[in-house]
Amino acid sequence: MASSVLLPRLALGLTLGSAIAFPTLYQPALEKLYAYVLASSIFRASTFETFWTVIIYAIIESLYIAKFTHNPQLRLAVKKDEDSTKPRPKMRRPTHRIKEGFTYIAPLLLLDLTMIKKFGGVPVQDMALSGNYDPNKVSMRGNFLAPSLHRFTFDSPLQTTRALPPTPPTSRQLVFQLAASIVIYDSVFFFFHLALHKLPLLDKIHSMHHKHGEINPQITNQLDVFERLGLVLLANFSLNIIGSHVLTRTLFVPMFVWLLVDIHSGMTQEWGYDKLLPAGWAAGSKRHSHHHQHGTKYYEPFFNWWDDALEWFAKKSPVKG
Ligand SMILES: *[C@@H]1O[C@H](CO)[C@@H](O)[C@H](O)[C@H]1NC(C)=O
Ligand SMILES: [Zn+2]
Repeated sequence: MASSVLLPRLALGLTLGSAIAFPTLYQPALEKLYAYVLASSIFRASTFETFWTVIIYAIIESLYIAKFTHNPQLRLAVKKDEDSTKPRPKMRRPTHRIKEGFTYIAPLLLLDLTMIKKFGGVPVQDMALSGNYDPNKVSMRGNFLAPSLHRFTFDSPLQTTRALPPTPPTSRQLVFQLAASIVIYDSVFFFFHLALHKLPLLDKIHSMHHKHGEINPQITNQLDVFERLGLVLLANFSLNIIGSHVLTRTLFVPMFVWLLVDIHSGMTQEWGYDKLLPAGWAAGSKRHSHHHQHGTKYYEPFFNWWDDALEWFAKKSPVKG
């Protein structure tokens, strides 16, 4: 098995390594790509990320579902029970999914259409303009922690565009921002998830995510509205806190969604991200399936360090009673 991941590992290592070491190599391609998306009214729309995320999720989940239904031998639960005749877990019907899609999209659209987008590297005047303010008269803070409402008028009843940075990031910035945002998200979600299990009120919200038979890729998005919103806002926070470029955000979505679906896949796969990373780094589908089955440990979504630290502490000072 080690040899089967050698090639993808090598490819990933070379791509990331060269993107960090030789940004000038990638700059022409990045300039072209960024000029292309900047010219697109779809990319400039305030609702872009919401729909981009839905499309990416639909594609990735479908691929995982196809693999899941056709490969019972990969399924962790089947493997464990050593019974491949076990009935397939029930997949949700398409009509159910429409409602699921709506409850995901609605609150985010509300934010998209009323709040001014404040991304790293964007001149504050451009933000003000996008929000229907006169940039010479208004004093507005460009920090994402200072939210600003759109200035609603008859001519401009909604926030429809987002102000974008004039230049692309370097490939080095792109890689560092992607890596940092994932690591930050992994940490903040660990604590959020811990609270979801330990605090009685939040526990109720989170129970919807654990209400299933055998875990399968669809469980990724089987979430209470509040938990889903929390998840999205924490991902947004992880990107904002390091001032991520809009292009980083755009690439973050497929990476993040892939990781989320992968840990909920209920399968051990050769190409799972846990096999690509150095041994011992990644929680992967194994730990997360264990969490879904027992709900007693493994709260960290993508990596192992916080959970390992928690176990170490628990061993050192066992809670009494
Ligand atoms: C994400 O953060 C940006 C930047 O502050 C903000 O404009 C946007 O509304 C946020 N999106 C969501 C879904 O919270
Ligand atoms: Zn949980």
